[in-house]
Amino acid sequence: MNIAVVGTGYVGLVTGVTLSEIGHQVTCIDIDEDKIEKMKRGQSPIYEPGLSELMLKNIAENRLHFTTHHEEGFYKADVIYIAVGTPENEDGSANLTYVEEVAIKIAELIEQDTIVVIKSTVPVGTNDRIQQFIHHHLIRNVKVEVVSNPEFLKEGTAIYDSFHGDRIVIGANSLQAANIIEQINKPFGIPVFITDIRSAEMIKYAANAFLATKISFINEIANICERVNADVEQVAKGIGMDQRIGNKFLNAGIGYGGSCFPKDTKALLKIAGHVDYEFELLKGVVNVNKQQQYLLLKKLNNRFETLNGMRIAVLGLAFKPNTDDLREAASIVITEELINQGAQVIAFDPIAMENAKKTLVTSIIYADSIEEALRDADAALILTEWDDIKYMDHAIFKTMRTPIIFDGRNCFELSSLKDSIIEYHSIGRPVVK
Ligand code: UGA
Repeated sequence: MNIAVVGTGYVGLVTGVTLSEIGHQVTCIDIDEDKIEKMKRGQSPIYEPGLSELMLKNIAENRLHFTTHHEEGFYKADVIYIAVGTPENEDGSANLTYVEEVAIKIAELIEQDTIVVIKSTVPVGTNDRIQQFIHHHLIRNVKVEVVSNPEFLKEGTAIYDSFHGDRIVIGANSLQAANIIEQINKPFGIPVFITDIRSAEMIKYAANAFLATKISFINEIANICERVNADVEQVAKGIGMDQRIGNKFLNAGIGYGGSCFPKDTKALLKIAGHVDYEFELLKGVVNVNKQQQYLLLKKLNNRFETLNGMRIAVLGLAFKPNTDDLREAASIVITEELINQGAQVIAFDPIAMENAKKTLVTSIIYADSIEEALRDADAALILTEWDDIKYMDHAIFKTMRTPIIFDGRNCFELSSLKDSIIEYHSIGRPVVK
């Protein structure tokens, strides 16, 4: 199949690259000339394990192309994927400007019957609206059918997830269009669920809201565990053995970040609000997450009279491991508040340092290694569970002025700390001194 993918953000690029890997002719389109030039040479604009390798391979095998010209990508395309961003408006709703811009281009440029697949996360009803919008602006006498195909990839494991996902959801008005998209995806070998368009759109929001709910739920259980001297890891294991609950996504910590859960939960609250429904449970989930991001600061403030003048090491800045993404990361609010309280912050992240320099308060000092960040520190905070941090040699803590650790991601087994020199505060587990 000839496929065009508009938007080379994380969703668009991974979609384009993996579709080329399973044999399709794919042209990725983006308006950013610099980015397109780099991608033509196989350089990925994002850090995503395995992505660059697949880009290089499929460019070399002449299946993967990049362009800034929509007409070049749309020429002979059987299917056009829209994967542009839907950023958050100030009121929490999804901004559809970029999706509409692409829709106009499609209406003006296509010369043959085309299926338009919307990958971007869009409010329920948007696919229908875009279908009408395209029809309204169509220049030539061709047929366009819009299909919803929401994305369930996780950053950091996106390539793996593409080939091992739990399901592919296709929402379409006609079985014929759904079958074409099913055929395109067949080589991935993942179960396909075909449904109506609005349910497909809702599945995306409901899935992310449910996962966010699981996280806020276990975080509140963790907060209670701390007060009753229980261990949230044990509790998560114990409840997770019940298959109705499941053992995944029950890691307590300093809340969820990233480009999806924070944005999609707020967008779903808006969607519900527009039809006069107050989604009380989800409001709670969002509020709990906001508070959880400040939890390590509360612990620090309980432990020390003042943070003024303290040298505090911060290990891990990305919103989760294996990504250089800092969007909505707890590190943003935590480092800002540490600086506000007069602390000196020395930070290290194995991959996200460049993005951190653009995102976080400027007075942070960046270290080149975990060792350098910890040297002479009065306390250390762990904000991302990178393997480099989880499996670090604890002897390094000896170089701290006082080896007091506040771990927001429960990186260390409590049993491994019995003879340790560190004082260890984590989430939902007893303090080790
Ligand atoms: C999430 C979903 O997991 C994907 O299915 C979805 O496709 C994607 O959003 C999206 O809508 O595009 P992602 O944001 O990449 O993926 O990352 P996750 O692995 O889900 O982690 C999100 C946040 O939740 C991270 O900050 C992570 O630290 C946190 N988390 C996750 C926890 O605090 N506890 C957990 O048990 C799991």
